[in-house]
Amino acid sequence: VSRSFIVAANWKMNKGPIESVEFLSEFFSLFTKWPKCEIVIFPPAIDLVSVARMIEEKPLRWGAQNCHFEDNGAFTGENSPKVIAELGADYTLVGHSERRKIFGEIDEMLAKKIVAVQRHNMIPMLCVGEELSERESGKTNLVITEQLKKGLSQANLETKIVLAYEPVWAIGTGKVATPEQAEDAHAVLRKMLIEIGGESLSERTPILYGGSVKPENAAELSKKPNIDGFLVGGAALAPASYAGIIKNSQLAF
Ligand code: PGA
Repeated sequence: VSRSFIVAANWKMNKGPIESVEFLSEFFSLFTKWPKCEIVIFPPAIDLVSVARMIEEKPLRWGAQNCHFEDNGAFTGENSPKVIAELGADYTLVGHSERRKIFGEIDEMLAKKIVAVQRHNMIPMLCVGEELSERESGKTNLVITEQLKKGLSQANLETKIVLAYEPVWAIGTGKVATPEQAEDAHAVLRKMLIEIGGESLSERTPILYGGSVKPENAAELSKKPNIDGFLVGGAALAPASYAGIIKNSQLAF
């Protein structure tokens, strides 16, 4: 397959501009040969200017964890997708489960955010995932395919989109999905992509797994054919463990 392997770091509301830059210089020093996978950092929005400067010369991509769906206006406290793109971001995360759960973002809003991200030529990384109660009542496939369909309902399917499957019960809990559980969900999403946009969309769209990924479990997960990378929270806060995840999944890229 032609899909690139992507290892992304979601720092959530951790690190300021100085810590971000310190992280990056330490992280860069951990590689003698730059890995062949795509590396993407999602720092807090308030750090993006410093991170952009630091990354300018490096083969690293970065993006925002969230954005508004309008470019400007009376939206107190929000960040404009236009400005994020002007800073040089390649990606913006859309629909992380914390945005959905804590901040009440619904699929209709996320569909508009995807349009906004694409309008500024950034790549949306759409997150989907079921809660524990939904998994236990056998609704996993229904929940994640609905989130996917609704999220992409207004999207341009000709340009690159990245998906992240993040079971809510595995996020920040230390309880990782088994490689089989993750592969099953990814295969379901891959099939739904055919329905949404045909074989080509399905074949070229990377689907990342997220939820308690660590250096210790990265290798097994990365071997699965439908797992095209990781979205890492806690274990991407320290340069060594983030680099460890990249190194341990090397067989996949
Ligand atoms: P975690 O977070 O790796 O800390 O579980 C993943 C995420 O929320 O993207």
